[in-house]
Amino acid sequence: MTHEQPPTPTGAPQRRGPFREGDRVQLTDPRGRLHTVTLQVGGEFHTHRGFLRHDELIGGPEGVVVRNTSGIEYLALRPLLADHVLSMPRGAAVVYPKDAGQIVTMGDIYPGARVVEAGVGSGALTLSLLRAVGDNGSLHSIERREDFAAIARGNVEGFFGGPHPAWELSLGDLSDVLPTVAEPGSVDRVVLDMLAPWENLAAVADALAPGGVLLAYVATTTQLSRLAEDIRTDGRYTEPEAWESMVRGWHLEGLAVRPQHRMIGHTGFLLTTRRLADGVEAPQRRRRPAKGAYPVTEEGAPGTGGESDAELWTPEAMGERLVSDKKLRRARRDVGQPRPQV
Ligand SMILES: C[S@@+](CC[C@H](N)C(=O)[O-])C[C@H]1O[C@@H](n2cnc3c(N)ncnc32)[C@H](O)[C@@H]1O
Repeated sequence: MTHEQPPTPTGAPQRRGPFREGDRVQLTDPRGRLHTVTLQVGGEFHTHRGFLRHDELIGGPEGVVVRNTSGIEYLALRPLLADHVLSMPRGAAVVYPKDAGQIVTMGDIYPGARVVEAGVGSGALTLSLLRAVGDNGSLHSIERREDFAAIARGNVEGFFGGPHPAWELSLGDLSDVLPTVAEPGSVDRVVLDMLAPWENLAAVADALAPGGVLLAYVATTTQLSRLAEDIRTDGRYTEPEAWESMVRGWHLEGLAVRPQHRMIGHTGFLLTTRRLADGVEAPQRRRRPAKGAYPVTEEGAPGTGGESDAELWTPEAMGERLVSDKKLRRARRDVGQPRPQV
């Protein structure tokens, strides 16, 4: 009996073999600083202490040490996905590798799954989701900002060495786009990374298959609380679960083996819930909420002073850093995406 060889998964050939022109290479200097270069025949990597010819790397293996014109040594490796997302051009803040790992596992993203993601931002999470669904799955990513979508497309195509067969990118608001691209009950998993995910609960519930997973990533406790309450109110979802993850690196040197002094203290919270079958009521919670968990005061709870949602849930109010137009233009140019037509 002969077995047909499966086709090589998209992106795999770019990740192995000798260095080729167009490869992104991470150079680590003697101080541990990272420099990322894209190899070009005849290209040079310059610092204030000499330069290195790309041609010395092209055609050779990964994991080599090369010297620049001043004798400084650089270790040359292809960046891993976790390295790549932290060094790639970005518009919006990216999902960190530690959270992307949690999202793929706890969101149960599997090869062949039909997944919807919004927003796309710089496309960092998109890379992990595409890897997880594989060439035979589908990932439909929805982003409302054209400039972010262009950066994400450049990052995805740059990482996989061209378009990914499982990926579609749509421009617009999730609630408007999702009903036009997915039949009701046809989506296995939805991943939301956006300011106000609760605004999309109805559209997501319509699209998700019974048992499907909604996973949301939010940056603040106020968003987390609003999302959990609105999920309960919707009634088509199971009781939400939320958590955060903290990763502490370790210093490894002789007998000095201890946690590193610095760590990333906070990225975001993750919440999951699952779609109930139509007509099923969520089981009653056995435990009553603690007294005071749902405060009602004369003035209203914080942030309920009559402000509209648009006034209340702004990127500034959530502490998000605004990105200048100049930085966005540069990121677009770096990923080789053309300027928008005006
Ligand atoms: C923090 S970024 C996403 C980062 C992305 N997950 C990554 O890893 O690179 C949030 C994005 O959601 C987009 N967004 C917010 N609300 C949206 C909505 N209702 N529909 C589509 N996109 C939305 C924003 O424009 C922004 O690009």
